[in-house]
Amino acid sequence: MAVDFLPINDWDHIEFYVGNAKQAAFFYSHAFGFQCVGYAGLETGVLDHTSYLMQSGDIRFVLTSALRSNHPVSEFVRKHGDGVKDIALTVDDAEAAYRETTKRGARGILEPTIIEDPNGNGYIKKATIAAYGDVVHSFIERHNFHGLFMPRFKEPPFMTGTRPVNAGLYRIDHIVGNVELGQMNEWVRFYEEVMGFKLSDHFDDEHIKTEYAALMSKVMQSGNGFIKFPINEPAVGKRKSQIDEYLLYNEGPGVQHIALRTDDIISTVTQLQAQGVQFLPSVLRYYTDLEDALQRLINEGRETLGPLGHPIHGESYLGKIPDLGHLGQLGVLVDGDDEGYLLQIFAKIVEDRPTLFFEVIQREGSRGFGTGTFKALFEALEREKDARVQPDELQGSVAAMAM
Ligand code: FE2
Repeated sequence: MAVDFLPINDWDHIEFYVGNAKQAAFFYSHAFGFQCVGYAGLETGVLDHTSYLMQSGDIRFVLTSALRSNHPVSEFVRKHGDGVKDIALTVDDAEAAYRETTKRGARGILEPTIIEDPNGNGYIKKATIAAYGDVVHSFIERHNFHGLFMPRFKEPPFMTGTRPVNAGLYRIDHIVGNVELGQMNEWVRFYEEVMGFKLSDHFDDEHIKTEYAALMSKVMQSGNGFIKFPINEPAVGKRKSQIDEYLLYNEGPGVQHIALRTDDIISTVTQLQAQGVQFLPSVLRYYTDLEDALQRLINEGRETLGPLGHPIHGESYLGKIPDLGHLGQLGVLVDGDDEGYLLQIFAKIVEDRPTLFFEVIQREGSRGFGTGTFKALFEALEREKDARVQPDELQGSVAAMAM
C-alpha cells in the first residue's frame, strides 16, 4: 500500500468568519445545543478580533469577528456573509503537512508557524493552505500544547442564564463544498494529488435531478476515512439549481453544508426543533414509496437485504429502522447500502443569504451517501429555492460546458 504522505488524525475545528461572533455564539448554543467553552478577545490580549469556541461532543466550531473594518475577517464577511473560512485538520507534523501539500501544488497561506502560549502552556504549530474559493485548510499540531484549545483562549466570561442543553451532536461527518460549473473535477484532483484523498462516491446528474435542475457530486475521503469532502457542481438542466443560487449569493465557491452526527436522530431532531431549529419539510410520497419498497423486500423473503436491496452480511436491518411514521413526522430520510443504513435530515439555511446549512445524520453501519436520500434532499432544497424570488442571473438554463 502506498505511504500516506499526508496523515491526518482527524477534524480539528471549523472556523467561521461572522459579523457578530457574540450573537452567533448565542445562536449555536441555544439553537444547536453547543456549549461555549473558550473565548479570545481584548480581555485575553487579542487586539484585532474576537473568537468564541463552541463545542458539542467532539465538534469544535470557532466563531470569529473582526473588531475593525480593515481586517481580513471583515473583508470575508463583506463578500460572502457569515460562513466557513477554515476547515482545520489535526496532524502530528504541521511542517511536513505544509511541505508535502505545497510541493504538490497547494497554495500556501501560512507557513508553519509556532504560536506560543504566553501563560506557559506550550505551543501550537499551525500551517495553512488554500482550498476552493476563500476556504482554507489549516494543519494543527497540538502535542506540545497543554492549555485550553489554543494560546490566548480562556474560559468564557459570561455563563449566566439557562445553560444550553446538548442535543446529541457529537462529530462532524462530512463537509460539502460547492464549486463552479466545470470545476468539480479540478477539486477532486486537488484532494487526490495534493492531499492524498481517494474518491469514495460519485453521483451524476442522472441520479440527482428534478425535472428542471441537477447537480453532480464526488466524495473525497482521507486515508483513514475520517474526513469526507463531497464536492458539488451545478449540472446541465433546464433551470439553474440551488448550487447556482449558492454560487451567486456566496459570490463564489464555499462550504454548502456541514453534516453533524448523532446516535439518536429522533431525539436530536425533536430537541433541535424545540429549540427553534427549522428543518426541510418531508414529503408524504417519499415515505409511502419507502414503505412499499421495504414491504416488497419482506414479501419476497429478502429481508436480509438493506433498504435498497443490497445484501447486508446476511443480517436483517429492516426491523431496526425506526418507525417510518415517526421518521416521516420529523422529515428524516432513510437510505442504505451493503454495510447498513443511514438516517438523514437537512436543517434550513442558517444565513440570510441562501448559502450555509447543516445536516443531521445517524449512521448504522453505512459509511456511504445513499443515492435515494441524496435525491430526496436535492429535491427538498430545490423546493425551498423555488419559494425564493430569483434574480436575472439565475434565470435560464445551465448550458453544457464546451469540453
Ligand atoms: Fe450531506
